[in-house]
Amino acid sequence: MRPTFSLLITTLLCLASTVSVSETRSPVVIAHRGASGYLPEHTLEAKTLAYAMRADYIEQDLVLSKDDHLIVMHDIYLDNVTNVRDLFPGRAREDGHFYTIDFTLEELKQLQVTGPFVSVLGNPLPQYKQRFPLWKSRFELATFEEELELIQGLNQSLGYGVGIYPEIKKPWFHLHEGKDISRAVLKTLKRYGYTDRDNKVFLQAFDAEELQRIHAELMPALEMDLPLVQLIAETEWEEKRLPEDGGWTNYDYDWMRTPTGLQKISTYAVGIGPWHPMLLDQDGQVNTLVAEAQRLGLKVHPFTFRADPGQVPERFDSFEDFARFYLEEIKVDGLFTDHPDKVRALRQKRSLHND
Ligand code: G3P
Ligand code: CA
Repeated sequence: MRPTFSLLITTLLCLASTVSVSETRSPVVIAHRGASGYLPEHTLEAKTLAYAMRADYIEQDLVLSKDDHLIVMHDIYLDNVTNVRDLFPGRAREDGHFYTIDFTLEELKQLQVTGPFVSVLGNPLPQYKQRFPLWKSRFELATFEEELELIQGLNQSLGYGVGIYPEIKKPWFHLHEGKDISRAVLKTLKRYGYTDRDNKVFLQAFDAEELQRIHAELMPALEMDLPLVQLIAETEWEEKRLPEDGGWTNYDYDWMRTPTGLQKISTYAVGIGPWHPMLLDQDGQVNTLVAEAQRLGLKVHPFTFRADPGQVPERFDSFEDFARFYLEEIKVDGLFTDHPDKVRALRQKRSLHND
């Protein structure tokens, strides 16, 4: 039977709208360590503010305590965001660092948290001068469970449907300390209902071999199927270290930015998280990394976009120009930012998302 003229028009209109929706790019705003440009990073207050600013995803960096609680914090040591040195003198290791893994949750909860600082002649100086002042008010470390309950609670009470973007920090270090942090993260995610790709979650790590273990062994055993994101470091950052001749050597990250490396990543991950300068060549021209990754179906979520003085690369006139270039010219699929309100406003202004 031949379709009627009106049915044909309706079908064509439906097809046209499907094409335009699928072609609409919707880069996501990932609140890096919460709204960390405004409140001490990774505190529940910074996460609440990020939620209110309507980030699409909120990031959690995760490390383990001595008694196996997942703690939301960036470093494996407490030195540059807490008063650990004053409260627990004598608990540093030989290298001078106070490791989170050497403290119980009960001890960690006694610490006061502040924005990141550097110690100069014993005096803490803020890493970002114009941010929330050091040591003001009262903030504490949060567990992963506390943060998941906060975001899920806000998803119920405010209903913005914000996702999570946990990062497993230095699994090689935790394994060296006798702890399987990846298994602990997955089990917690499962307990809170994050089990598959229908949930609004990305799970990220700098450790390629660990992500492959998660993909091939841990998730199948736990009946989970979460989307994984491979973070890409510069080798000298010491994100991953390998034992060698009684010492440690840096894991070489260079393979990840080659076509065969990206092909390999696409077998276990749905996306990559490169450092933003990695998307430009030495002349400042856009290189082929994003195009190559996206051709393989990988999402590209670069880090970290900060609006603080000195954090916007010189070639850009403003933070807005910086973020706009990556969203519109390079066409990344989302970005990590300490200032989610600014990127969200830019996205709305440029009609880059169906907000
Ligand atoms: O996870 C994305 C970005 O946060 C990676 O850098 O060192 O801030 O965890 P880092
Ligand atoms: Ca991170």
